[in-house]
Amino acid sequence: MKNVLYIASEAVPFIKTGGLADVVGSLPACFDKRYFDVRVMIPKYMCMHQEYKDMMKYVTHFYMDFNGESTYVGVLEAEYNGIKYYFIDNESYFSGDRPYGDIAYDLGKFIFFSRAALSCLPLINFRPDIIHCHDWQTGLIPVYMKDTFRAGEFYRDMKSIMTIHNLKFQGTWDVKTVKKLSGLSDYYFAPDKLEAYKDANLLKGGLVFADAITTVSATYAEEIKTAFYGEKLDGLLRAREHDLRGIVNGIDYDLYNPETDRFIVKQYNPKNFRKEKIKNKRALQEELGLYKDDQAFMIGLVSRLTDQKGIDLISYIMDELCQEHIQLVILGTGEEKYENMFRHFDWKYNDKVSANIYYSEELSHKIYASCDAFLMPSLFEPCGLSQLMSLRYGTVPIVRETGGLKDTVEPYNEYEGKGTGFSFTNYNAHEMLGAIRYAMDVFWNRKREWNKIIDRGMAQDYSWQNSAREYTNMYDWLVP
Ligand code: ADP
Ligand code: GLC
Repeated sequence: MKNVLYIASEAVPFIKTGGLADVVGSLPACFDKRYFDVRVMIPKYMCMHQEYKDMMKYVTHFYMDFNGESTYVGVLEAEYNGIKYYFIDNESYFSGDRPYGDIAYDLGKFIFFSRAALSCLPLINFRPDIIHCHDWQTGLIPVYMKDTFRAGEFYRDMKSIMTIHNLKFQGTWDVKTVKKLSGLSDYYFAPDKLEAYKDANLLKGGLVFADAITTVSATYAEEIKTAFYGEKLDGLLRAREHDLRGIVNGIDYDLYNPETDRFIVKQYNPKNFRKEKIKNKRALQEELGLYKDDQAFMIGLVSRLTDQKGIDLISYIMDELCQEHIQLVILGTGEEKYENMFRHFDWKYNDKVSANIYYSEELSHKIYASCDAFLMPSLFEPCGLSQLMSLRYGTVPIVRETGGLKDTVEPYNEYEGKGTGFSFTNYNAHEMLGAIRYAMDVFWNRKREWNKIIDRGMAQDYSWQNSAREYTNMYDWLVP
């Protein structure tokens, strides 16, 4: 039996701001329980819903020296979907109405979390063989495992994995502050360790000291070794390329299932979508006050509204796009300029554009189920889950060929009768518009072809099965 502990800053259903939570909350359940005991550890945020806090049971507490003070660390646990979750509690660090805020504050929060997570292990009766860390928030864990915690018998031989979900965020701050917060010695603040361009960089620490590195698609694993996608760590990633692999994400096929989804008006499956899926579109037109028309090409967008997601491309062509017989349904929050841009177009083209600037699990499912197409023109995309959800719901993805989008959406080829979506190569608004127009043309004028694209999309398998097998191989390789 191998014990694996996932340590991360978010996990569904407890707390979610993006795809990281989907992954950490669904992958652990996909390992063979005869050989693996996989558990998950995240902070206990004050902003978690009460129903989840009510599930948690007190395990233990202790005081840890942190930043010159003796600091309270509570540990709680809950069982969900057959998986044991641990929650690190400290009401001062994990307060606030969102899990993340100001980076200066977040830095202390996650250094505290990383240290507390390792410190509590001997007290919870679970000794991991592998600690699987996710993103910069847990970057110090592999460093601590080679340093502060190395001496103890308990931690010796424990292996660490660092998974990059998004290289853009690295947790950087000045060396002096990080040195003080982390308690690490000068030795670590050198350019071949935590230091990057004069600052301290937590993710870099993880990438230097982890026993293995993964990221969430094969293409992104290649891209991040180049200057354009490498976020200034491409040199390090090239140096560690033999320890770096890309394993594509999956999604929870029970949670995202058009046949059983209780958020949507009309359930459907690969056999009857031709007749049934449209009922969801009609219901969404009604609900959002869009004009009622089966033929309107309804495009969905569920996304953090940031530069990463290519929202500026959409803003360039909004007016042009809205001259077409289309509808655009947006669900997302993020940068104010993008939120306001969509609000503006909602006002300008009121029955064509619906801008929903908030977070809603329910509306997201309705959009995946109701729209004809789903737009994801990302500047970069480590994996992307929204396009996988769209495929699952028979909503045709229109994507830029980057990262996981390239690996999971096969472009339509009308000559060979292949493909599950539409794509474009360059980060260019009119190239994107060209792909959208091509999709519209097939939708209106070659409906049988369109439906075959959906057939092929819904037949794809992006459940976790295959990827869990690749993670299994990696765990077996690390701990024979
Ligand atoms: P990222 O992690 O970069 O944000 P992903 O495509 O991997 O992108 O995952 C995004 C996840 O967050 C998906 O599950 C998507 O449905 C969800 N999501 C994003 N914005 C919202 C929102 N405003 N309301 C509900 N779900 C959202
Ligand atoms: C990140 C990436 C996204 C990926 C998700 C889960 O947020 O932006 O592409 O799907 O992590 O790995």
